[in-house]
Amino acid sequence: MTAGRIAGRVIVALAAAVLIVAAGVAWYAFSGRYSIAATEPHPPALEAAIDEIYHASVARQAAGIEAPALDRERAAAGAPIYAAECAMCHGVPEADREAWAEGLYPLPPHLPEDGTDLAAEEIFWIIREGVKFTSMPSYRHALSDEEIWSVTALVERLHGMTAEAYEELIALPAEEPGAGDAGDAEADAGDPGNG
Ligand code: HEC
Repeated sequence: MTAGRIAGRVIVALAAAVLIVAAGVAWYAFSGRYSIAATEPHPPALEAAIDEIYHASVARQAAGIEAPALDRERAAAGAPIYAAECAMCHGVPEADREAWAEGLYPLPPHLPEDGTDLAAEEIFWIIREGVKFTSMPSYRHALSDEEIWSVTALVERLHGMTAEAYEELIALPAEEPGAGDAGDAEADAGDPGNG
C-alpha cells in the first residue's frame, strides 16, 4: 500500500470515530439520560475546564476597562446597593446567603468569606455583563456604570469584613463619588466620566 492510501484510510477511520462519538453524545443527551438537576454537579474535569474558560474570558473581556479611584466613600455608596441587589446570593459579613441561594448551581461565592481573586475591572465587567449559564445577572439595565463602580469598591473590601464594619459603611452618608477629595465639586462638573 502506498503512503497516500494509508493516509487516506487513517483519515476515514478518524472521521468514522468522530462521527460515532458525536452520535453517542447526541443519543445520550437527547434520550434524557443526562440530568440537568442543579443538585448534580458537573464531573470535576468539566468543572475545571469551565473555570479556566471563565477566568480567560473575564480577563480578556475586561481588558481596556480602567477603574476610577475606589475609595471608602465609593464603597459606602455601594453598600446599600449590595445589600439590596447582591446580599441574598453572595452573603453579608457574618451571615449566610438566603436559603434558596444555597441551592443555586454554580453556588455563588460568599464574598465576605471567600473573597475574590478578580481585579476591580473584572469585578465591574462581571456585574455589568453577568455570567452565562449561571444565576449571575447582568446589571446593565438596573444600575448605572457609576453605581456598578461603587458596588465594585464595596466588593473589593468585603473579604474578611466584620458585621460591625459593614453596618458602619451602610450608615455613612452617601456622597457623590469623587466629590470627597475634589474639594471643589464645581471643578468636576465638566468631567464626562466613563459612562
Ligand atoms: C441570583 C444570584 C446572584 C445575584 C443576585 C448576584 N450574583 Fe454575583 N454571582 C452569582 C453566581 C452564581 C456567580 C458565580 C458564577 C460562576 O461560578 O461562574 C456570581 C459571580 C459573581 C462575581 C465573581 C466572583 C469570582 O470571584 O469569580 C462577582 C464579583 C459578583 N458575582 C458580584 C455580584 C454583585 C456585586 C451583585 C449585585 C449587584 C451580584 N453579584 C448579584 C450569583 C448572583
